[in-house]
Amino acid sequence: MIRDKGCGEIKDTDIGSAKTLTGWVFRRRDHGGLIFIDLRDRSGLCQAVFSPDVSADAHENAHSLRAEYVIAVSGEIRKRPEGTENPGLPTGMMEMYVQKLEVLNEASALPYNMEEAADAGEALRLKYRYLDLRRPEMQRNMILRHRIAKLVRDFLDEKEFLEIETPMLTKSTPEGARDYLVPSRLNPGHFYALPQSPQLFKQILMVAGMEKYFQIVKCFRDEDLRADRQPEFTQVDLEMSFVGRDEIISLMEGMMQRLFREALNIDIETPFERLGFHEAMERFGNDKPDMRFGLELKDMADLAEKGTFKVFLDALNSGGMVKALNGNGMAGVSRKEIDTLTLEAQSFGAKGLAWIKVKNGFESPIAKFFPEDVLKAMAERLEAKDGDMMLFVADKPKVVYDVLSRMRLELGRKLNLIQPGYKFVWITDFPLLEWDEEEGRFQAMHHPFTSPRDDDMEKMLTGDVSDKTMLSSLKANAYDIVLNGYEIGGGSIRIHKQTAQKRMFELLNIPLEEAGMKFGFLLDALQFGAPPHGGIALGLDRLVMLMAGATSIRDVIAFPKTQKAFCLMSGAPSEVDTKQLRELHIKTDVPVK
Ligand code: AMO
Ligand code: AMP
Repeated sequence: MIRDKGCGEIKDTDIGSAKTLTGWVFRRRDHGGLIFIDLRDRSGLCQAVFSPDVSADAHENAHSLRAEYVIAVSGEIRKRPEGTENPGLPTGMMEMYVQKLEVLNEASALPYNMEEAADAGEALRLKYRYLDLRRPEMQRNMILRHRIAKLVRDFLDEKEFLEIETPMLTKSTPEGARDYLVPSRLNPGHFYALPQSPQLFKQILMVAGMEKYFQIVKCFRDEDLRADRQPEFTQVDLEMSFVGRDEIISLMEGMMQRLFREALNIDIETPFERLGFHEAMERFGNDKPDMRFGLELKDMADLAEKGTFKVFLDALNSGGMVKALNGNGMAGVSRKEIDTLTLEAQSFGAKGLAWIKVKNGFESPIAKFFPEDVLKAMAERLEAKDGDMMLFVADKPKVVYDVLSRMRLELGRKLNLIQPGYKFVWITDFPLLEWDEEEGRFQAMHHPFTSPRDDDMEKMLTGDVSDKTMLSSLKANAYDIVLNGYEIGGGSIRIHKQTAQKRMFELLNIPLEEAGMKFGFLLDALQFGAPPHGGIALGLDRLVMLMAGATSIRDVIAFPKTQKAFCLMSGAPSEVDTKQLRELHIKTDVPVK
């Protein structure tokens, strides 16, 4: 080693001793007589002082140092003179007086100022990701990610899980997104799919008697990207035999407790709250509610019916709903602010946003459509006091839920209602099947290997296949774990009998032949003594993002992709040689250069 310690590891016990440090030049301040450098490495910062009295040579050479030069400095660690300490820095009481400076490497002029990197555009940060990753904040995120992965491994190892790898070149898995395909040179016209998850393989591992499997594993999904979605992301994937829902739930609660305690020094209370899917939708408008604040949706149908506001009545008459939120303390907002809010609601899909201010009575263009006692009952239901504003959306359920759940979050933020900290919730009792209007058939709400709840199994196996109401009422033995409004994981107890699995494909209108082609190996395996089993997968990126206090998973992934699934640093995806395409027997209809 050419250094004695990390820059951030200098302690007051080092005062008076000679040390060698290495790192990057972060800041340089030239005070004529003295030159100060903030030297940075992964462990932190240390101030290096170049004085002509200590070394004329080093002082002279320090003039040529530029941002991000890599240097080694040797010299005496001294206590900083009184008044010059920096209590904001762990090493802020000390500094090194440099006797010897060695430039290990130079750096060209930077594409952006490292000190203001957080404000540099994200495109620039992604292009020069190695510079971005040098920032203390990003290094903290990477260190935290490592810690969490290590704690997960240790925790699951203690619980006797085996980490087993599953193939990346495999067949399409049914997680509902588009596949990334890989052409096979040896089998022209045939393609592998990159796994959307190891779902089928982990179930096969249960059939294979492994009993407890886990893997920290890359998954690939070609879907529309967002702040919490990447085309390749990482799951903590696990599966267990001979368990029910509650064992998996309490295992995960124990894991979360361990992670938060060990990585963040935060105690998490268990058990976590559990909400049925239906209740989550009714109260929060979505199945990943942020439980750090109230502002719950209230159903207003019965009261809306007692008035003459056509928009509400029309919605109710065409099978829709009227729901409302209480905008706490918003009675004072201007017409212009209401217009902005309305535009926002419209951008989320609403036709409009009706409002009633509670302000010495009721103030609203629609107040005239309701008798006074109905207005009062509305206010009471929403717990709207003088100074509040009631906000209504009337539409098809999907639109009402979607718009009001987003408005709820938006208002929670704007009105500062969101408590700091971490609030977990389990969402359970999802419908097993979801009607797909476009395709005119049922889809699995989680995936087709999810078992119905025990009390619905008989109905699923023997019920009338054309009875849409019955099929819609079947509940899945599935569970999602939600943290601060993010779905950080989901899983289920699986179907472990071949007959039930075949029946599931029938309900999903997947012909047995097609099911056989796609999932034949699983169907085969289920007939050779498959144990009851179930599992879950955590979205590691999302969990780390929340634990790091970041707002995008891109900030906790070393080399993420853009919204258009592009890697700005490496330039992937890119065109390939015609020769490569020829070998793969692939012709594109895009002209290749
Ligand atoms: P699911 O599809 O719910 O379940 O995925 C599990 C978790 O993975 C995370 N996640 C993502 N994170 C970032 N970018 C994405 N594109 C992305 N997609 C999903 C989410 C999600 O909760 N095989 C099942 C698990 C099981 O049944 O055991 C599965 O993959 O946090
Ligand atoms: P209008 O009758 O179109 O002038 O609308 C009167 C008020 O009702 C306006 O504030 C609209 O924004 C609001 N509004 C219109 N459609 C809806 C709807 N579907 N749900 C809630 N409010 C609506």
